[in-house]
Amino acid sequence: MEQFIIKGGTPLKGEVTIGGAKNAALGILAAAIMTDDTVHIDNLPDVRDINVMLEAISEIGAEVNRIDRHTVEITASGIRDVSVDDDFIRRIRASYYFIGALLGKYKDAKVPLPGGCNIGSRPIDQHLKGFKALGADVKIARGAVVARAERLTAAHIYFDVVSVGATINVMMAATLAEGRTILENAAKEPHIVDVANFLNSMGASIKGAGTDTIRIDGVKKLHGTEYSIIPDQIEAGTFMCMAAATRGNLLIKNVIPKHLESITAKLIEMGNEVEEYDEAVRVIGAKVQRHTDIKTLPYPGFPTDMQPQMAVTLSLAEGTSMVTESIFENRFKYVDELARMGGNIKVEGNVAVIDGIESFSGATVSAPDLRAGAALVIAGLAAQGFTTVDEIGYIQRGYECFEEKIKGCGGTIEKVDSDKAAAKFKLKVG
Ligand code: UD1
Repeated sequence: MEQFIIKGGTPLKGEVTIGGAKNAALGILAAAIMTDDTVHIDNLPDVRDINVMLEAISEIGAEVNRIDRHTVEITASGIRDVSVDDDFIRRIRASYYFIGALLGKYKDAKVPLPGGCNIGSRPIDQHLKGFKALGADVKIARGAVVARAERLTAAHIYFDVVSVGATINVMMAATLAEGRTILENAAKEPHIVDVANFLNSMGASIKGAGTDTIRIDGVKKLHGTEYSIIPDQIEAGTFMCMAAATRGNLLIKNVIPKHLESITAKLIEMGNEVEEYDEAVRVIGAKVQRHTDIKTLPYPGFPTDMQPQMAVTLSLAEGTSMVTESIFENRFKYVDELARMGGNIKVEGNVAVIDGIESFSGATVSAPDLRAGAALVIAGLAAQGFTTVDEIGYIQRGYECFEEKIKGCGGTIEKVDSDKAAAKFKLKVG
């Protein structure tokens, strides 16, 4: 079983380059099957969730040509099956995007109910409500969503909750519906804009993505395109927290600083310096950092996917901070792991009260999910002594070359697959 072994205490310095946005890429890959032409996609992150998605796309009969690690061409003219295979797709949350993509193109889809990180109950009722409003007959049968329509017709849809997945999914299906669909109370995350831009580059007519009202004029057909995915906001934010928590100085390149504003604002409130450039940010961690409060909210609020990384950073700030998780109810599972490292966090319902500590001390911890796993790595990098992080498969779902990027900034970390390798690494770095 693979683990990360980390020797903490070194401020991270230098530069790191951020890859393409995983969550945008998942929507874009699904949308790529909505045309029979070839679609060329760049800046694809090489992470497990993306590779699972590509396997599933190829499994239903589309041609997937991986040109290089970050570039793929997809030609979906040969799709023979609108029923997506369970084994691949159950493993990732974004499998639900196949419903919108297949329903839009073939008016027929059968997709297993989604898996993904266990961070709370994750219903898809808003997705299904949208498909039904477009005229589809939607059923859950034997663990799968079965959606069919004679024809899809435009609708005025008000989402009861702000949902990234439902907004993208219904937007995809509506692209090939007849007439003008209006989505209200839509999510505004950067990856929604990216998927909309991608669909527009294929001939769709989507306006207002990035605001809470999206207007989609249905088209008959989509065509091939070349598209480059936006940088990953959460990977960038994770390295920003890493710089702050280790009191380092990192230039984080290939980012869109506007997408990072909520994270930047909090790091500055804590006393850190954040310099913004056109496509980069520099974070200089202050020696003494102040407490602050965080509440996760839909974009442009503070992202739930950055909550654990920020909680680790706040643990090393003076005073008491409050972190309120308002999106997912089960996102504090890392707190018990941090307690092993000396963290002092109490959870009451959806609020974590963090009492700042001088430093973490190295321990063996286990990643409970993707972002919490990354947060434990940050804690290990800031800790005194050695930290072992187990269950790093979660982290590899969403971070490409995580340990290599950290090493490139002077962090002492190694991926090992045996006790012997772990002991050897410890001996080597002392
Ligand atoms: C996506 C991201 C995930 C991120 C989350 C919130 C992907 C693959 N995953 O997840 O990393 O943490 O956005 O930014 O892009 N809800 C409903 N009914 C629905 C859909 C959602 O009640 O039909 C609720 C959820 O339980 C949650 C909230 O709405 O409380 C937001 O969920 P949503 O934005 O849909 O998250 P995901 O698309 O699953």
